[in-house]
Amino acid sequence: MRRAKISVIGAGNVGATCAHWAAAKELGDIVLLDIPDRVGVAKGKALDLACCGPIERFDSSVIGTSDYADIAGSDVVVITAGLPRKPGMSRDDLIETNVKIVKSVSEQVREHAPESIVIIVSNPLDAMVYTAWKATGFPTHRIMGQAGALDVARFRAFLAMEIGCSVEDISALLLGGHGDDMVPLPRLTSVHGVPVTALLSAEKISACVERAKAGGGEVVKLMGTSAYYAPASGTIQMVEAIVKDKKRIIPSAAYCDREFGVGGFFVGVPALLGSKGVEKIIQFEMDADETRLFKESVSHVVDLVNVVKKMFPDLA
Ligand code: NAI
Ligand code: 2OP
Repeated sequence: MRRAKISVIGAGNVGATCAHWAAAKELGDIVLLDIPDRVGVAKGKALDLACCGPIERFDSSVIGTSDYADIAGSDVVVITAGLPRKPGMSRDDLIETNVKIVKSVSEQVREHAPESIVIIVSNPLDAMVYTAWKATGFPTHRIMGQAGALDVARFRAFLAMEIGCSVEDISALLLGGHGDDMVPLPRLTSVHGVPVTALLSAEKISACVERAKAGGGEVVKLMGTSAYYAPASGTIQMVEAIVKDKKRIIPSAAYCDREFGVGGFFVGVPALLGSKGVEKIIQFEMDADETRLFKESVSHVVDLVNVVKKMFPDLA
């Protein structure tokens, strides 16, 4: 049986950790690509990781490179190239630098892996997904962004810490952009089927919501750069759903036209992920508060996309 091929662009903290999780789960052969100046880092991390195979019992090949010819035939390409934020910066502060990087990387992906499914991780996420969509020209079901998988994992982790139960028993949902105005949905959150509202006070739930929204910033403050274990873990959850055609429903930045009344933008929604990429968006009725918060979050995404369009009229 042919193994899947997974290429990760950017061999920094998130990219290398994506390669690590993908290898550990033996999801396929892995290519880790960085710019020529950092090809030693890409090759060194790939070699180091490949040598874990005998211990962790995976046979995936892991190679480092700066040559886009090596990503040919990829089933999935993960784009993590770009600057991470430093203390005091918002994700949006990265837009000017990262849009240039993501545009140039996407053009290479279009040329060398034209049939791939692309998952963008670089920030500001929702605007970078738009950039990659325009620069690759790929159909919308083959372009998506990782944010919700991470944000909902943070929400579940904080709820489990508060309740003192297993994280596995928390089922939660989250919508909107990958910013501080993302929209966790306590109304649709349960602990093994029991509504979370029956187990925690409104104040405690609200504290978990706020902590999830600011979860990225909390890590940046502690270690001076952005998180990478959980972001990479969320990304590889999406990769696994695609390469194993699992039809998992994972909050992802997916293209919504009429869905949720978004009108043609990539925003975080529950997406069914399988071998074709985003195979379906799962819609449901929001209440008045959720609708208001979701609209606010989408309007922030629209503002960011307009900044991209202004900077690069060819991406409009
Ligand atoms: P990092 O600085 O550790 O790694 C970034 C890598 O990208 C570097 O190795 C750099 O050489 C490479 N790179 C830069 N330009 C490139 C190009 N043109 N082609 C190929 N590689 C290039 O940063 P880290 O922590 O890995 O973060 C990467 C991005 O992911 C940042 O934009 C960060 O904000 C974002 N991020 C997004 C998350 C999400 O949930 N969506 C979570 C965490 C980080
Ligand atoms: C995070 O949420 C910075 O987007 C990154 O950790």
